[in-house]
Amino acid sequence: MESEFIAGELRDQMDSFGPVNLRFDGDVAWITIDNPPVNATSTAVRAGLMQAVERAQSARVAVITCAGKTFVAGGDMAEFDRPPEEPHLPDVYQAIEDSETPFVAAMHGNVLGGGFELAMACAWRVALAGTRFGLPEVNVGLIPGAGGSQRLPRLVGFEAAVDIACRGKMIGAADLAALGGLDRVIEGDLAAGVAEFIAALPARPEALSRRKSPEIDTDFVEAARADLERRAKGAQAPLHNLRALQWSALPFAEGQPRERALHLELRQSAESKALRHAFFAERAVARPKAVDGAAPREVSHVAVVGGGLMGAGIAAACLLAGIKVTMLEASEAAAADGRGRVDKILDGALARGKISQATRDGYGAVFTATSDYYATRGCDLAIEAVFEDLEAKRSVFARLAAVLPKDAILATNTSYLDPVRIFEGIATPARCIGLHFFSPAHVMRLLEIVRTPATSAQTLATGFALARRLRKVGVLSGICDGFIGNRMLAAYRRQADFMLADGALPHQVDAAMRAFGMPMGPYELQDLTGLQIAWANRKRQAATRDPAERYVAIADRLCEMERFGQRSGKGWYRYEDGSRKPIRDPEVEAMIIDYSRENGIRRQAFSESEITDRLFAVLVNEGALIVEQGIAENDAAVDMVQIHGYGFPRWRGGPMHHSEQRGWDIIAPAMKSVILQSANTWTLSKRLT
Ligand code: NAI
Repeated sequence: MESEFIAGELRDQMDSFGPVNLRFDGDVAWITIDNPPVNATSTAVRAGLMQAVERAQSARVAVITCAGKTFVAGGDMAEFDRPPEEPHLPDVYQAIEDSETPFVAAMHGNVLGGGFELAMACAWRVALAGTRFGLPEVNVGLIPGAGGSQRLPRLVGFEAAVDIACRGKMIGAADLAALGGLDRVIEGDLAAGVAEFIAALPARPEALSRRKSPEIDTDFVEAARADLERRAKGAQAPLHNLRALQWSALPFAEGQPRERALHLELRQSAESKALRHAFFAERAVARPKAVDGAAPREVSHVAVVGGGLMGAGIAAACLLAGIKVTMLEASEAAAADGRGRVDKILDGALARGKISQATRDGYGAVFTATSDYYATRGCDLAIEAVFEDLEAKRSVFARLAAVLPKDAILATNTSYLDPVRIFEGIATPARCIGLHFFSPAHVMRLLEIVRTPATSAQTLATGFALARRLRKVGVLSGICDGFIGNRMLAAYRRQADFMLADGALPHQVDAAMRAFGMPMGPYELQDLTGLQIAWANRKRQAATRDPAERYVAIADRLCEMERFGQRSGKGWYRYEDGSRKPIRDPEVEAMIIDYSRENGIRRQAFSESEITDRLFAVLVNEGALIVEQGIAENDAAVDMVQIHGYGFPRWRGGPMHHSEQRGWDIIAPAMKSVILQSANTWTLSKRLT
């Protein structure tokens, strides 16, 4: 009885409507959304808010806040695959805007999507300094669905709204206040700041939906459209957002239903499904089964061996993430060069405003470059990035093992060599791992985390923790030639070369893959990254290559002509006076045509779709084999490698997701044509049979 009485008393003070609580303090209704982790606007939150709004009608003012570390940071994406359930978000927000009792949104953390829309339905908006705002729907192929595209231009003007809704830019509290989007920025304690604000409320402003439409300059819209189209590389959502913002020129009662209808339609679109898949896959690959329950080792001091292109990028990435770095080079002179490369990257970060001068200066104390192995003695982790040579790498690890603590983790950044062979002779192979970065290592988000049969769960967990700390997407890979990404790339390039021999030219292949949504075609990309490493790899494989397999030596001939790509001034294309713009080169095209003739190949014309269908089929066939062979844990891992390491269009969700959506039976015929044209060469995945 007693406990019921107490519960009853508490109920008088606080009403709970699912994850939404309402508490009266004098004439103020405090509404708190408590839906961890990010207070997403799930069905329960919407229903709770609706009830709380009704109950708050006796108050002078109602304040909406959130429990935990952030205000509402979006919708519940898990609900997007189902038909929307009542109450609908626009109705809840309309009730807030139309309420007799005016509402204050009191915000902290991230105010995103439905959270920002909620804030815009309130009469006033106040936020802690440092709060960040955005409408990231565009990143998942959507437009706002609860008035965001209609209220935002009325709040901050059309131009700022384009940056936020179409480009997905986040805006800080101070900048939002400067645009007139916040009524107060609170320093220190949010509750105290809100109490002060509501003690002397200004006159209630006109609701955003009733304010006059923003000025929309047609020249600005056209320029924005051209820019969005160019950057989107085939994605449609940025343009849909622009269209929705333009509807804010209409009365709200006309614009808002259009926004809602398009939002619901886009939830079903292939683009949004692909982008949502990528969003969830990123989170899923970070926790592979192999690390379940394993605690990572603390990493505070990393040794990077080799200060070349990769070593410098890796060292900079670690420093920028607050990790102490000792770089080892072959000589003091090479160490000085390595330091110079790292300094250049750090200076670039300073120039772009990514770090402060004080942070830049601070690296002097935590970064050393030397040729003295003894300097690495306190390191928790060593990442080797010396020449791609088995003996060179083995001798590095033998020397490291002699000076490092016995449990320090030993990692190799090899692209193609077998880590098991690299680590042969190391006494405790459980601490050995591959950490395969992508160039430039301080920029590219992919990190392949390569496991040998001996690698322990703790070592793997440390690799994944490092990826998170470096803000990278770690993907677990088993061992095969090229691991996940470069193996797929090799298959893709191989088929592209087959098509050159059979009748295509480099610019046609590049144009077709750009049209598909790749940032670059395979030949422009090779010119950019250089052709030598792959050439060396092909020479290495020559001894074991099955003579019955098809081998096209066009790329080898190009290398023999000393055309190694942009750095040597020419490659598949020619380049004028240091420009990066590829120009077709008759010399290369003649060489390709000669090659076909010499090999008795009758050149055929390939249409753009034949090129993309075949290249895509080969890519996805290799991805499927990689999953079948257990090199990748699942399709999502392959998709993440392609999106974060190779520029595969995110809006297509990665090759595996894209195939799943299109249907494997639609892709299979293209793979069959590939196989017909190059006998004894391809292994067919079960999924394409
Ligand atoms: P790089 O030639 O730019 O740098 C190699 C550096 O290692 C040179 O500065 C050299 O002085 C140093 N070095 C050689 N022997 C050494 C030793 N015994 N002790 C200390 N330092 C030594 O080569 P890059 O491109 O940085 O490649 C390094 C490794 O990373 C290779 O295994 C490569 O396959 C791999 N990798 C390369 C990628 C790329 O895009 N270039 C991408 C991912 C991995």
